[in-house]
Amino acid sequence: MSLRGADKTAVEQSWTRLVQSSFQDAGEKVFLKLLKNDSTKANFKKFKDIPYSKLAGNDAVREHGGKVIQVLDDFIKGLDGSGCEAVKKAARLHKAAGMTHDQIDLMKPALCEVLDEAGCGDAKASWEELWRLFMAAHRDVY
Ligand code: HEM
Repeated sequence: MSLRGADKTAVEQSWTRLVQSSFQDAGEKVFLKLLKNDSTKANFKKFKDIPYSKLAGNDAVREHGGKVIQVLDDFIKGLDGSGCEAVKKAARLHKAAGMTHDQIDLMKPALCEVLDEAGCGDAKASWEELWRLFMAAHRDVY
């Protein structure tokens, strides 16, 4: 597992910008994109009964979002290979929750939207590479 120098730098710099406020703030932003899709939202027992318009600022969304951002942070900080274990741990939870890899792949457009809004659109090609590595680690589990 590796990311080329320029891609690694672009991902790391955009990630620093994305999470500068807090992991929960970044996680909330990503989940507000992801949960726009009702069939995606229906998978989350914690959120499925909350109307979309009430999700912003919701404690459960922020807490869950923060945990997801922590996994991505571990992955990005461990691009030498050590970050894979965090992804595999999440994959085991996804497997238990009955999620398919295609469903997990829906996180990529949500992340890209948040990158755009943070003014990091230039880094999206590098994020494509990062996401390929993320999904490869995820698919290692099941
Ligand atoms: C960056 C991509 C993702 C990461 C790193 C990630 C990480 C995680 C983590 C850490 C948990 C456990 C949370 C806890 O302990 O409370 C979890 C649970 C879960 N994830 Fe993901 N996730 C990702 C993307 C997705 C996507 C795109 C979906 C759905 C389309 C999804 C569906 C779920 C579900 C259904 C659970 C179980 C939630 C529950 O039982 O309350 N995940 N994920």
